[in-house]
Amino acid sequence: MVDQKATNVVWHEGEISRRDRYKILRQTGATIWFTGLSGSGKSTIAVALEKALHSLGKLSYRLDGDNVRLGINKNLGFSEEDRSENIRRIGEIAKLFGDAGTLSLSSFISPYIKDRDCVRELHDAADLKFVEVFVDCSLEVAEERDPKGLYKKARAGEIKHFTGIDDPYEAPQKPEIHLHTDEMTLQEEVQIIVDYLVANDIIQTEYLTRAGDVTQVAV
Ligand code: ADX
Repeated sequence: MVDQKATNVVWHEGEISRRDRYKILRQTGATIWFTGLSGSGKSTIAVALEKALHSLGKLSYRLDGDNVRLGINKNLGFSEEDRSENIRRIGEIAKLFGDAGTLSLSSFISPYIKDRDCVRELHDAADLKFVEVFVDCSLEVAEERDPKGLYKKARAGEIKHFTGIDDPYEAPQKPEIHLHTDEMTLQEEVQIIVDYLVANDIIQTEYLTRAGDVTQVAV
């Protein structure tokens, strides 16, 4: 956890509540947090889920490791400290999105349990739902896929501290959703997540009936 640096700062309350915002959007905000090795399928699933949610009339927004590292987190690298700060900032951003009424789809390796737990606690304290999705795939398969050619570079010693090669990945112990992307289709994975969101009242069915049937989600 990062210490509060600025002193003499006080939370300023508004006059429009979270509930007021959710009412306008006809949905509740929440964070869907994808964690897994590089190449495990986090971003691919997030893109497909975003499409499925859109077709159901739900507003979501993707926060993606590479994208965020090209912007707000461009000053961070891949040391344990920088990865923690990366996740802390995204956790705070996801919390803001959730408070605003959006379903944020956050895809980050987020290799350390303690960092993911901090984000979870942040959401719990703010009474926001946090759904951890373990995008599970063996290192062998991720390395075989190697969509960005980074494993090859890491094996050749051209990238240091690469997750799974010479940096650790701590798998979630009790994720809300566990996907085995080396055994499932993308469509099955998206359906599992949508089903979970419906079953846990993160997507409200009273609005769904208007936008389409859940079982007919197109990905
Ligand atoms: S995290 O560990 O801090 O959560 P994040 O998800 O933001 O990582 O970024 C991971 C992405 O950065 C990978 O998908 C890959 O494209 C790229 N990358 C570059 N160097 C590394 C590295 N040393 N370890 C892992 N990913 C790396």
